[in-house]
Amino acid sequence: MAEPVQTPQAAFPTRIFSGIQPSGGLTLGNYLGALKRFVEKQEEGIETIYCMVDMHAITVWQDPVKLRQQTREGAAAFIAAGIDPARSILFNQSQVSAHVELGWIFNCIARMGWMSRMTQFKDKAGKNSENVSLGLFAYPSLMAADILAYKATHVPVGDDQKQHLELCRDIAIKFNNDYGVNFFPIVEPVIEGAATRVMSLRDGTKKMSKSDPSDQSRINLTDDADTIAKKIRKAKTDPEPLPETLDGLKDRPEARNLVNIYAALAGHTPEQVIRDYAGAQFGTFKPALADLAVEKLEPITLEMNRLMQDPAEIDRILGQGADRADAIARPIVDQVYDIVGMVRSRRS
Ligand code: TYM
Repeated sequence: MAEPVQTPQAAFPTRIFSGIQPSGGLTLGNYLGALKRFVEKQEEGIETIYCMVDMHAITVWQDPVKLRQQTREGAAAFIAAGIDPARSILFNQSQVSAHVELGWIFNCIARMGWMSRMTQFKDKAGKNSENVSLGLFAYPSLMAADILAYKATHVPVGDDQKQHLELCRDIAIKFNNDYGVNFFPIVEPVIEGAATRVMSLRDGTKKMSKSDPSDQSRINLTDDADTIAKKIRKAKTDPEPLPETLDGLKDRPEARNLVNIYAALAGHTPEQVIRDYAGAQFGTFKPALADLAVEKLEPITLEMNRLMQDPAEIDRILGQGADRADAIARPIVDQVYDIVGMVRSRRS
C-alpha cells in the first residue's frame, strides 16, 4: 500500500452537490432543510449541481410509473423553489452513469464495519435486515460517489445526512491513502439554519418524513392552502403559551418545532420568533404560522403544478442537465479507472 498523503483542501475549487430521493412527494422538511438552502447557494454565485437520485430511490421497491412521476415532480419542485437550470445543473442520477461506476469502486473502498454502523440503514432495515436489498446497505457508498464524481467540496443537507457525509469523507481519505494520491476532496457538510431537522407535526421527537404512514404528520409541497392551514392547526402542541426565551422550549419538542418552522419560513432566527411571540397561546401562534406557510408555499405549489403540465419540458431540462453533469463527471471517473489500474483501450 502507498504512503498516506495529506490532502490540502485549497487545491479543490468550491463546488456544491446535493441530491433528493424521488421516493415520494417532497415535504416541508425537504424544502426547509434542503431545497430552500440549495437556492441560497445558487444565489451566492457558487457552482451548484443538484440531482434527483433515482438510483437511490430503488434501494426500496418503487412503482415504475410513480417513480417517473415523482422524479419529474421533484425536478419541478427544484425549479418552482427557485433553482434556475441555466445557472445550476439539475438532472436525474440514472442519466449519468459515472455515479454507479464510481459507486462500485467505492464499494471496494468502504469497509463492512463502516457501513454496518450507519444509523439510517439500521432504522430503515429494522428487524428485517436479512430481507432488505443489498443496495440499501451499499446506499451511502453510492452517495459518496454522487458527490465525489464531481469533486464537490460542500454538501448542503439536513441533519439526518450528517453520518453519511462523514462516511463520504472516510471513503475519500481511504481512496487517497490507498492509492497514494491527492485526488478526492474531503467534503464539508453544510448543515445550517433553523430547520436542519423539521419534525413530525404529530410527534416532535420524530423527523418529518415522506415515508411516515400518517399524512397529518407532514406538509407536502403538493398540499393546497386549506390542507396546509388545517394540518398546522391540528399539529400536536402542549397547553403552555410560548415562553420568553428559547431555553423555555427545551423540553417542548412540538413547540420548538413550530417555532423553528416559523423562523425558517420567515428567514428569521428562532430567538427573533420567540421575541415576537413571547407569551402567545397556540391559538394565536398557529394561525400566524399557517398564514406564513401558505404565503411561502402556495406560489411554489402552483408553479410546480404548472410545470407538471408539460412533462416533456421537464425531461428536456433533466436531459440537458445530465449532459452538463456528464461532461464534469466523465473525465473524473476516467482518471479514477487509471488510478486503480484498469486497462483503458477503447477508442471512443
Ligand atoms: P432525502 O431524499 O431523504 O432528503 C433530501 C434532503 O432533505 C433533507 N431532509 C430534511 N431536512 C430537514 N428536516 C427534515 N425533516 C428533512 N427530511 C429530509 C435531507 O437531509 C436531505 O438533505 N441520502 C439523501 C439523498 C442523497 C444525497 C446524495 C444528498 C443521495 N446522494 C449526495 C447529498 C449528496 C437522502 O436520502 O435525502
